[in-house]
Amino acid sequence: MEDTDREIILDALSIQKRIVQLGEAISRDYAAGNLLVLGVLKGAFVFMADLVRAIDVPLAIDFIQVSSYGKGASSSGDIILRSTPTIAVQGYDVLLVEDIIDSGLTVQWLMAHLADQGANSVKVCALIDKAERRTHPVQIDYCGFSIPQGFLVGYGLDFNEQYRNLPIICHLKNPV
Ligand code: IMP
Ligand code: MG
Repeated sequence: MEDTDREIILDALSIQKRIVQLGEAISRDYAAGNLLVLGVLKGAFVFMADLVRAIDVPLAIDFIQVSSYGKGASSSGDIILRSTPTIAVQGYDVLLVEDIIDSGLTVQWLMAHLADQGANSVKVCALIDKAERRTHPVQIDYCGFSIPQGFLVGYGLDFNEQYRNLPIICHLKNPV
């Protein structure tokens, strides 16, 4: 892959500054809660690691894995639950941590699933909102950045499982 195929959208410092703000807001809102931060694997793992270190109220951590995207850059439309949290979500105030909300299908499915499992409350924190691509309406309670279009990689985000290790977020110009 040539470097000319990637354009930097967010540098490491901009990401960290925004995460500090998100952490402050979350800490304020959950001061009296029973917080479970639930990361959506795999894409949210880098964001989640930085986000929890910016939150200063007691919290539990777990992960859930679903997939809607197959190998490429477009969704298959179906959600498959690939792994469930080890902590029972019942009674927890769940903060779902997502990398990107695109069509909204994944988060809409997860919110219904967690409510079904007996979560006390469910809110959403997403690093990136691609609002213009929404087909399934969702409320994003804590949003890092709004980025209208383009396929993004880095900072946990992949294209065919590559690029997750980049410390920055780039626009991949020719995903095929
Ligand atoms: P949704 O169900 O359409 O909202 O898709 C959400 C999931 O698709 C995200 O959690 C990502 O894993 C993946 N996704 C959507 N857009 C991108 C992108 O630009 N780069 C990498 N992954 C993406
Ligand atoms: Mg993904």
